[in-house]
Amino acid sequence: MTVAAVVTAAGSGSRLGASLPKALVRVHGRPLVAWAVDAVLGVADAVVVTAPSSHLDDFRAAVPRAIVVEGGAERQQSVALGLTALPAEASIVLIHDAARAFQPVAVMRTLVDAIEAGADGAVPVVPVVDTLVAAATEGVLGATVDRDGLRAVQTPQVFTVAAARAAHAMGAQASATDDAQLARAAGFRVLELPGDERGFKVTRPLDLALASAVAATLKESA
Ligand code: C5P
Repeated sequence: MTVAAVVTAAGSGSRLGASLPKALVRVHGRPLVAWAVDAVLGVADAVVVTAPSSHLDDFRAAVPRAIVVEGGAERQQSVALGLTALPAEASIVLIHDAARAFQPVAVMRTLVDAIEAGADGAVPVVPVVDTLVAAATEGVLGATVDRDGLRAVQTPQVFTVAAARAAHAMGAQASATDDAQLARAAGFRVLELPGDERGFKVTRPLDLALASAVAATLKESA
């Protein structure tokens, strides 16, 4: 089956406090999106990157092996736009956040294998490490939630192209923060597989220090 990817990178990254879109921020000498695209090319034959309209040329320079398209106002819209730009022969799609640029290729491979074995969708998850509680009421700490029964969800989230397109064709769902949520709402069965702590999302300034340390352990392939 032909594997393709949509790498979402159209966010502003305001929580990172950078003057550039987050995916263009350099980590160990290269833009975050270049690290993400290189990793994805370990399993995908074609990659579509969704970029902010203000920086399309910068993205095309940063990831010359990818098809760069303009993203939407929300991540969900960016993914939908990315799906429309996939090559016609693609039958499996990884939907990946550029911000999770250091997810190991081995994790991506197990997800793709699950789809090739017949699953509609498969996502990487990791255990929750913090104690979790419900939000406080009038300043009083809420009830503790059993973290053993919870998982933190990462990307890439991998689907048959048919399932991904059907899920996104159902239209925007304001509450959906990932693609698996849309796929399940559309009636697809999504498997969970082990993720990796290197699949963390670069979100806040401190994450850049961790990203830099992880990047230093990787061999640059560009
Ligand atoms: O904001 P957050 O880090 O949750 O975004 C997750 C991913 O979705 C990022 O890689 C970001 O660039 C991307 N995104 C997008 N289009 C948007 C908003 C976010 O492609 N409109």
